[in-house]
Amino acid sequence: MTVQFSQMEIARLATPVPRYTSYPTAPHFSASISNPTYREWLHAMPAGSRLSLYVHIPFCDTMCWFCGCHTRMVRKYAPVRTYLDSLAREIATVATHLPSDCSVTHVHWGGGSPTILEPEDIVRLNAAIHDAFPLARTCDFAVEIDPRGMDDARLDALAETGLTRASIGVQDFDPDVQRAINRFQSFEETKQVVEGLRQRGVNSLNVDLLYGLPHQHTHAMLKSLDAVLKLRPDRVALFGYAHVPWMKKHQEMIPTEALPGMPERIECAERAAERLVADGYIRIGLDHFALPTDSLAVSLENGKLRRNFQGYTTDDSDCLIGLGASAIGQFPQGFVQNETSGQAYERRVREHGMAVTRGFETSAEDRMRGEAIESLMCGLEMDVARLRERHGKLADKLLPEVEVLFSQEDPAWLRRTERGFTVTEAGRPFLRLVAAHFDAYLPKGIARHSTAM
Ligand SMILES: C[S@@+](CC[C@H](N)C(=O)[O-])C[C@H]1O[C@@H](n2cnc3c(N)ncnc32)[C@H](O)[C@@H]1O
Ligand code: SF4
Repeated sequence: MTVQFSQMEIARLATPVPRYTSYPTAPHFSASISNPTYREWLHAMPAGSRLSLYVHIPFCDTMCWFCGCHTRMVRKYAPVRTYLDSLAREIATVATHLPSDCSVTHVHWGGGSPTILEPEDIVRLNAAIHDAFPLARTCDFAVEIDPRGMDDARLDALAETGLTRASIGVQDFDPDVQRAINRFQSFEETKQVVEGLRQRGVNSLNVDLLYGLPHQHTHAMLKSLDAVLKLRPDRVALFGYAHVPWMKKHQEMIPTEALPGMPERIECAERAAERLVADGYIRIGLDHFALPTDSLAVSLENGKLRRNFQGYTTDDSDCLIGLGASAIGQFPQGFVQNETSGQAYERRVREHGMAVTRGFETSAEDRMRGEAIESLMCGLEMDVARLRERHGKLADKLLPEVEVLFSQEDPAWLRRTERGFTVTEAGRPFLRLVAAHFDAYLPKGIARHSTAM
């Protein structure tokens, strides 16, 4: 192992902390926010706002035992079609509450597996979005793709609808790992999808890989990474497997004793990161890597990188609208989340046209802390001076917390700057722990989180 971690550091990396794709994090959302507040927030969006849409498809053909997403397995297609009817209704209703001159700059279909959709439904869903929302001419359109079961007709349908980016799930090619996670996916079928997308002009590709999977050893995982690197994706997301069986029952199919211990988890993550960097990828935040020409790397360079529920992004729109079961929206006033259960979501949309059942109204302090945490997670820096310019005296609340951070954590992780501090390369693996120092809700949190690495 090139990077050595002490017993104390290993113990710190085993600490459960949030992933900070939002602040406050989703477990703090409550039922005090529902459709009436959502309608108010939609109406209050200023004229000319730039919007981002997240569309959730909560279905898969088979269930991967590791999966932490909001999805369910369906053997028949009928429930998917019924869901799409509700989704189209929600899309049309939500759009009527927005100012007419806003424009959509980003569309992201996630899941679950959006590629479970039949080709005609890909076209139909895209048409429902285009009919309801004014899309910017340069709108970025990304879809999460499960390469298993992808075919030319689906690829054609996606290309026809103007796909600009794709995120492809791989996880690991090792047969022992694949058996243990119930996901059988060959390199060949993955390669065909990559080539199929490129032939159709979709040239911005991301691949998801996981470390910390059952029976996964560093050597074999690096072999999978090498295979992925042959495909030269523009981005690689290297996620740590979050084992949360108390939230996701099917993860009980993964025996705890088959999971690598923390030292092997760390070794795997760090060795894979080293290999990606050696191969020309820029390390981004906690777990992403991008070629220097990719827009994510360019955003990092320009200080414009953002983090939202989909992870690291170039999306800097004024508001994120979540559509579909469990989807989360983000507004200047706070967060909204749709009903998570598919059937209850459909019932609510039938009755009310929309389905928000939870959310969080942020205070001025929440927004200041959210910005501070986001800039740590993205640019590995906290610029207290800039936070003061933007949020006034509220930012001074962070000053004693910065001192606590410096007194409690390893000095090698941190470097003071004129305007605040930065997290060093040695501190990067501990980013979630550093961010947690500025989370005012964590001490009273009831939620259980995955480990810091
Ligand atoms: C919605 S899936 C991607 C699209 C498609 N369903 C697939 O699996 O190919 C999103 C990604 O989340 C990641 N993911 C899912 N469950 C996870 C978990 N428990 N811990 C960490 N990452 C997870 C996987 O890398 C997966 O590719
Ligand atoms: S990882 Fe992807 S394909 Fe597997 S169950 Fe989760 S959403 Fe479905």
